[in-house]
Amino acid sequence: MGDEIKKGLMGVTVDETSISKVMPEINSLTYRGYAAQDLCAKCKFEEVAYLILNGDLPNSKELKKFEREEKKERKLSKSLINIIKQMPKKSHPMDVARTAVSVMGLEDKETTDNSQKANLRKAMRIFSKTPVALAAFYRLRKGKQIISPKEKLSFAENFFYMCFGRVPNKDIVKAFDVSLILYAEHSFNVSTFTARTITSSLSDIHGAITGAIASLKGPLHGGANEEVMHMMNKIKKPENALNWINNALDKKEVVMGFGHRVYKSGDSRVPTMREYFGKVAKIKNDKKFEKIYDIVEKVMIDKKNIHPNVDYPTGPTYHLMGFDTDFFTPIFVISRITGWSAHIIEQHSTNKLIRPLAAYNGSQHRQVSSIEER
Ligand code: CMC
Repeated sequence: MGDEIKKGLMGVTVDETSISKVMPEINSLTYRGYAAQDLCAKCKFEEVAYLILNGDLPNSKELKKFEREEKKERKLSKSLINIIKQMPKKSHPMDVARTAVSVMGLEDKETTDNSQKANLRKAMRIFSKTPVALAAFYRLRKGKQIISPKEKLSFAENFFYMCFGRVPNKDIVKAFDVSLILYAEHSFNVSTFTARTITSSLSDIHGAITGAIASLKGPLHGGANEEVMHMMNKIKKPENALNWINNALDKKEVVMGFGHRVYKSGDSRVPTMREYFGKVAKIKNDKKFEKIYDIVEKVMIDKKNIHPNVDYPTGPTYHLMGFDTDFFTPIFVISRITGWSAHIIEQHSTNKLIRPLAAYNGSQHRQVSSIEER
């Protein structure tokens, strides 16, 4: 008998972190000790980004400085713009984000400096430029002109502006901002653990975030928000929802946007995002997806006791905001860059090479015969 195998590292504690925690006593995800839903109620995304990266909420002077730096870094190099122009229009925007961050690593003057100060500066550049690269691709693949970022706009407003050429009403922007806050950080999830693993060999932040983006793309992780929309589009109308979900469960299908490795009785981010999904549906005067949402959720809880995760409400919310479905996970990226960066910095400061063991189940020792004998 060898050591016990913990497939998927389920239940294994691999390191310490001071960045976030699901606190059972308040039944909530917390960033640096603050409940995510309280941050949604009282802060804008930039304040939360600052909190995650720096450990504390900013005062107004610190926030102004942080926002100034973010705005200053929004410009892309000519060569990155040219690379984005040459990308196949059918590319998945997650692959565009992954490639864009990788190119930023080629161009960054501090790529090889892994000190905390340099990492914070590089994190700011990646945070600031990635939405610009994604919005450029959003426009180009539709045959439209790229829209340059506007300094007077907030992070969220600017993303809408660069994609659509206009900023929507403030309640839509707030719903988007809330989704960014809820997506910003979630401890040792797959993509963050990927980033930390890459960092543990003393590699750099651009490489770690490039790997994290690849990891987030998968449908069991960030890709789930896109899958939720595909599911809702297949269901088409509320009248079909009950049959569709019963049928899916009879066929033992995995229903996207439900279940979680950590939360077993409900993702604490969902009630907040569900509320903002409702607000956006009301503004857009489109209740179809809300009705489908409620029917599928009720059956999943009644029949399987499996609750929705945050990707369930964000999917239809982004759809109602006008984003193409394959841009939902890239929106997750532009927010999670904050959490990944904080973890990369934490990993560098307390590093131990991540190198687990495996139980070998292949052939026993064999003799190598010459090629003529095989
Ligand atoms: N639909 C149907 N059955 C499910 C689902 C689901 N979404 N999630 C879990 N189950 C069942 C699963 O089939 C298994 O049943 P059994 O014990 O009979 O084999 C049981 O619940 C335990 O599930 P698991 O897959 O072993 O649990 P896990 O902790 O390994 O998986 C998960 C967690 C998120 C991968 C899984 O719930 C899942 O595949 N969900 C759908 C994809 C999804 O929404 N991902 C987003 C995750 S959260 C936010 C993010 O990271 O973006």
